[in-house]
Amino acid sequence: MRRSRIGILTGGGDCAGINPAIKWIVKTALDERLGREKGIQYEVLGIRDGWRGLIYEKSVGPDVPRGYIVPLNEEIVRTWDRYGGTMLGTSRTNPYNPQNDQSKTVLANIEKFGLEALIVIGGDDTLQVACRLIQQGVNVVGIPKTIDKDLPETDYTLGFETALNVITEEIDRLRTTAGSHKRIFVVETMGRNTGWLALEGGESSGAFIILIPEYDFSTGKVNALVVEGRKAGARYDIIVVAEGAKPMGGLEFVREEGLDDFGHKTLGGIADFLAREISNGTGLETRSVVLSHLQRGGAPCAYDRRMGRYFGIAAVDLVVMKDFGKMVCYRNGKITACPLEKVIGKPNFVNVETRYDTERYNGRRTLLRHDGEQRF
Ligand code: F6P
Repeated sequence: MRRSRIGILTGGGDCAGINPAIKWIVKTALDERLGREKGIQYEVLGIRDGWRGLIYEKSVGPDVPRGYIVPLNEEIVRTWDRYGGTMLGTSRTNPYNPQNDQSKTVLANIEKFGLEALIVIGGDDTLQVACRLIQQGVNVVGIPKTIDKDLPETDYTLGFETALNVITEEIDRLRTTAGSHKRIFVVETMGRNTGWLALEGGESSGAFIILIPEYDFSTGKVNALVVEGRKAGARYDIIVVAEGAKPMGGLEFVREEGLDDFGHKTLGGIADFLAREISNGTGLETRSVVLSHLQRGGAPCAYDRRMGRYFGIAAVDLVVMKDFGKMVCYRNGKITACPLEKVIGKPNFVNVETRYDTERYNGRRTLLRHDGEQRF
């Protein structure tokens, strides 16, 4: 029997769907059938707090009483697929931060813990680190997760559907109060520089206007649409705006000064700005709501539980086949894999031509081409 060890790490912003993936990695890797059929026996170690756990692996503290590396088994993870966030914890630590390069420590610890493979559940930043480790000889397999759905090569990233459900539910709640008061609500969604959450959240909730970072908007046009809608009988309006959306000729709105370990700004504030513009431009009562981290919270929806399961199982398949350096993907209805290096630094933006109605500032109202094929 060949014995081997797998490490699991979750990095970047948390979201629903990560815990189901961890559960199914553990269950698949520890499945006795692997021993029977392939002659392999795995041990699985959970690495706490993302890459930070591989830097400070020995330290103990109130929240890491046993240190950052913890053995996982089926009993421990049995109920994890019901919970949001990540039971392993996460951080935005970048071991390759040029101001404080700790990558040697990470490499040394991977060696010290005898990790034959590292399964990394993350978005662009976390997977970027994974890619650099691959170049230094580490056997990595990636799992895509981010509510932003901004990774290329995959039609799905864990956490996205649960976040859409949150957006839809919150907007349902806003509708009753908006209707009672004849108000306009401007709802700000996350998503950094991509508009998937705003677009598909707005589509799911039937928003009147949807503004995305991929298409700069005119405040004059927003006001004109609102006034037109009122004339046509609308009692209230829901406008969804992505945190990274910009008015024409303007810049994105930033909530806090400074950059994180991966060089990102903290976006936010566009909803407030727009609510003021609408109120001043139309005289209609307008309020703003920032959904913020609520979109990352809550229990995973059924889809995220299922996709977490499939991605987790597929990641172990790659490890068993020693097909390292890949990220599991969901493409055209199939679970597949692609080289991790293809995923990095190429954000998956909304294609305005196929997905966005620039006249109505909303999702498209025609989906099929003349030959009956879908436009996207
Ligand atoms: O990438 C996920 C995300 O939720 C973005 O949509 C958002 O801009 C960012 O993370 C917020 O980061 P933090 O959790 O560090 O505030």
